[in-house]
Amino acid sequence: MAMKRRPLVIGNWKMELSAKAELELVRALKKHLAGQTLTAEVVVCPSFPSLAPVHEALARQTAISVGAQTVHWLEKGPWTGAVSVLHLSPYVQWCIVGHSEQRDLTGMSDDEVNQTTALLLRHGITPIVCLGETLEERQADQTVAKVTTQVEQLLQTVNRVALSKLVIAYEPIWAIGSGEMPEPADAAGTMLLVRKLVAQRFGQDVSERLRIVYGGSVKAATVAPFVAEPGVDGVLVGGASVHPGEFFDIIQRVQEAAA
Ligand code: PGA
Repeated sequence: MAMKRRPLVIGNWKMELSAKAELELVRALKKHLAGQTLTAEVVVCPSFPSLAPVHEALARQTAISVGAQTVHWLEKGPWTGAVSVLHLSPYVQWCIVGHSEQRDLTGMSDDEVNQTTALLLRHGITPIVCLGETLEERQADQTVAKVTTQVEQLLQTVNRVALSKLVIAYEPIWAIGSGEMPEPADAAGTMLLVRKLVAQRFGQDVSERLRIVYGGSVKAATVAPFVAEPGVDGVLVGGASVHPGEFFDIIQRVQEAAA
């Protein structure tokens, strides 16, 4: 029998808000969620300077947890301006790794993504590993090849136990922030490929436990058919996550689909 995985909704606030607005957003979310029993797990990923205050604002409730948007792949060293896992660990339970915007900004390679994943796991922080194809790769029919390579490299780096602790986000790069989305069945097919590759390496059990979420232009109005697909365990939401009412609606749609 297929295993039931808890749905996951992750809000990536990117660099969209001021510090003040990030605090207002977390307070508004708390209000929306007050008195609700969430069946989904909800994570918000503010900017680095807001991690501590957002963590503090969420201190007495368990419905939402905090994640970082990225982290350096080494624990410490002479890296001016970089942020280490040691800086994050008091405040976060989650961290996005290898978001395409970070890969663009810093030239982060798949190898660095995998090193970062292993480092976070050693520190007890759940990595949300982002992968997916560019528009050119999709047009050249290379989606399967690209995603297969990314997953196989990841599977070389992490062991069986570690793999069951992380989350994979399939984010077609062309869908991020563009308003464009793949057909839900198409996205789900690629996510199924990820799960099959995991099963081949670590067995059915591990692959059944792994949560795989979809990301790219998710909105309340578009999320339902994605999370209705088998094997889609939730969503990574960017732009729409900074609007508390919209984000709350997304959470509800995801919960309804999983019910
Ligand atoms: P978007 O971003 O929802 O604004 O497309 C997704 C992401 O950055 O993960």
